[in-house]
Amino acid sequence: MLSGKKILVGITGSIACYKSAYLVRELIKLDAEVRVVMTTSSAEFIGPLTLATLSKNPVAIDFVKNDEGEWENHVELGLWADLFIIAPTSANTLSKLVSGNCDNLLIATYLSAKCPVWIAPAMDLDMFKHFSTQENLDNLREKGVKVIEPTSGELASGLEGKGRMEEPEVIAQEIHDYFNPKTKLGGKHIVITAGPTYEPIDPVRFIGNRSSGTTGVLLADECAKRGAKVTLILGPSNKKTAHPKVNVIHVSTAEEMFDAVQTNWELADIGIFSAAVADYRPKNAAQEKIKKNDEDMSIDLIKNPDILKWAGENKGDKFTIGFALETENELENAWSKFSRKNTDLLVLNSLKDEGAGFGETNKISILAKNNKISSFELKNKQGVILDILDALEEEL
Ligand code: C5P
Repeated sequence: MLSGKKILVGITGSIACYKSAYLVRELIKLDAEVRVVMTTSSAEFIGPLTLATLSKNPVAIDFVKNDEGEWENHVELGLWADLFIIAPTSANTLSKLVSGNCDNLLIATYLSAKCPVWIAPAMDLDMFKHFSTQENLDNLREKGVKVIEPTSGELASGLEGKGRMEEPEVIAQEIHDYFNPKTKLGGKHIVITAGPTYEPIDPVRFIGNRSSGTTGVLLADECAKRGAKVTLILGPSNKKTAHPKVNVIHVSTAEEMFDAVQTNWELADIGIFSAAVADYRPKNAAQEKIKKNDEDMSIDLIKNPDILKWAGENKGDKFTIGFALETENELENAWSKFSRKNTDLLVLNSLKDEGAGFGETNKISILAKNNKISSFELKNKQGVILDILDALEEEL
């Protein structure tokens, strides 16, 4: 529950405003105290009366509160909140959050807020993809603002793509979990590998793979949120952590990743090996760019270190989680990997399942000791990592 927690809900102009009413209702159901600050354009999408009624508090829109010319105290609002969630966040407000362009009460409140600020963007897919939007989001993430990623699907424009505001129930659950962290990971040191590795062929080419690093980065954020001390060893990936306390070590090759794991292993309690490590690397990376002289060419490959296997052999009383992406004989291969790599949990996903693998969703099974297996439905990756960490907490 959120009893005693003060949640300030900011609402900006987007068709997704209708979801804000549900969000307020969910938060009230969780027993939070809720107040709402809106921009004038959002009030064209949804009536302030609806939000005042649902939140059981007057809604703040203008700097001047009423006909008597009473001042709406944005400082008071900003300081009142334990958490400020702006949902939906329009592209316009997003840019103002970055620049500090304070031409409305919501931004003034944001500038005076001392609490964590979360944003749930909602916009059309091309607007969301635009480099200006992405740069603004990166900028805010770096400053510690939590971004609740929009989901993909049908948009108000009729187009299909990423830009739908996350569902109110999910946001409310995240707020709930933030204030009620699951504590078994509290104080644990967790080493996580994530992303692909790039194995150089010459100074410009490499052998890589389609891993985005999303799962590992989300795992790192969630572990930190649950109170763990997290070291994320991240291969080449443009994904960024949202939690300010995650210690990120950037690496490129499997050997660099292995080095970083070995350096951090002694102090670790738990290792989560979500990286898609290249199994082989070119034996001799050319010093100069290889010219195309011959009709054929071949590259000699040698085996990379198997990091998870090494961790399994050097486990002591640590807990390890491995991943298996299979394309055939999934269960058989996964159980064999489970014992070969001496892991405590193995997360299996099959490329045969639609929506599993490299995209924004995944469908997993989790293998545990004593032939235990739990299978989950197709979910977005945030949902998937919650299942993985819940399974971890159950086993600890
Ligand atoms: O053997 P396979 O590559 O399918 O195993 C996948 C699991 O092993 C993943 O958890 C992956 O992170 C880990 N792995 C590793 N080092 C390698 C290859 C895989 O840590 N060289």
